[in-house]
Amino acid sequence: MKQTDKFEIFITTQLGLEHLLHDEIKKFEFTNPVLLVGGVSITGDWVDVWKANMYLRGATKVLARIGEFRAFHLAQLDKRARKFPWHITISKGMSIKAEVVTNRKNKIYHAGAAVERIERAISEEIGSKIAGSVSSADIVFKIRIIDNNVIISIDTSGDGLYKRGYKLATGKAPIRENIASLALYYCGYTGNEPVLDPMCGSGTFIIEAAEISRNLMPGRNRKFSFQNLNSYDEKLVDYFVKKWENKISEFTFFGIDRNHNVVEHSIQNSKRAGIDDISNFKAQSIEKLSRPKGPEGLVIVNPPYGSRIGKKKDLFSLYRTFGEKMKNEFSGWRVGMITSDNALAQSTKLPLISSELAISNGGLKIHLYRTETLA
Ligand SMILES: C[S@@+](CC[C@H](N)C(=O)[O-])C[C@H]1O[C@@H](n2cnc3c(N)ncnc32)[C@H](O)[C@@H]1O
Repeated sequence: MKQTDKFEIFITTQLGLEHLLHDEIKKFEFTNPVLLVGGVSITGDWVDVWKANMYLRGATKVLARIGEFRAFHLAQLDKRARKFPWHITISKGMSIKAEVVTNRKNKIYHAGAAVERIERAISEEIGSKIAGSVSSADIVFKIRIIDNNVIISIDTSGDGLYKRGYKLATGKAPIRENIASLALYYCGYTGNEPVLDPMCGSGTFIIEAAEISRNLMPGRNRKFSFQNLNSYDEKLVDYFVKKWENKISEFTFFGIDRNHNVVEHSIQNSKRAGIDDISNFKAQSIEKLSRPKGPEGLVIVNPPYGSRIGKKKDLFSLYRTFGEKMKNEFSGWRVGMITSDNALAQSTKLPLISSELAISNGGLKIHLYRTETLA
């Protein structure tokens, strides 16, 4: 594949968030974004792969589809995998790993046997090492067999894109950075107002909001698997990093939590993200929360929920207190919330609008809620 060839790029996110990722992708100049289950596909080249990895806040992975062939049995898979032009995308020095998804509708339905054939073919044809695990591989191939078609994609991201590089310290149940950003977008957040999270944990909402306000590039502090591919052009990638324009933000981002330790984590995380000059973290319980001076904005929160933390009765009381605080002190602000339990959400008695779709977050289904401006 030459630098200029176009191919399908599948940009993944958590189930239930695809429409919000689609909206984000449409703001960039990507070609032909199509909303699918589990993500959005675009048509593009390696430049688009780099940009999607570095620029998108809502994505979890960027998969580049590099080719396909038909195979009806393992010997054929072996033969055709050996003929596949792997050398165009990868070179000898890289360690590789393959992941195969197949099912009983295909003649080749045993994923493990397919993985073994494909990895051996790449290793013997290119001379690359087979890594011990996916996490230690330089390059991971994601292979789907559909209707006896072996579809080959490369994971060009490596670590999930929600790992921005700033959140080294977390409390219990931190929200993933890409979910936090998409939740902010769901609440109509564009960076032009302050944000307050009264149960901020490791500070994810606050840091993502401050980054959006400054228009910081989400992938500025991390590595990507695309750097291990033959198509990688350091100078050109650097050009697209430099082309990105930051903004000045005149707003403050308030993170509050009753737990002193997690507040300290938030402060450290905000320093690593380089937004500590516009964020303000303090340890305080929701019962003592008061409206900050200055312009109105968005309160966004991910209170404790589910069986992971806290007991149910206390949780109802906590959500009620939160709702009362919002209604009594935050007129002119909007509220956004993530929680797994609709009964808890409704106990805030806030006029909540739900995104309807359940979002997969670890093993748990969570929901997004927002309000209009509070009276
Ligand atoms: C699910 S965690 C929030 C995670 C956070 N969104 C993150 O990304 O790290 C819920 C947080 O609520 C805080 N919390 C629980 N009860 C509280 C209260 N009464 N006042 C303030 N914070 C409280 C907990 O300390 C915990 O950090």
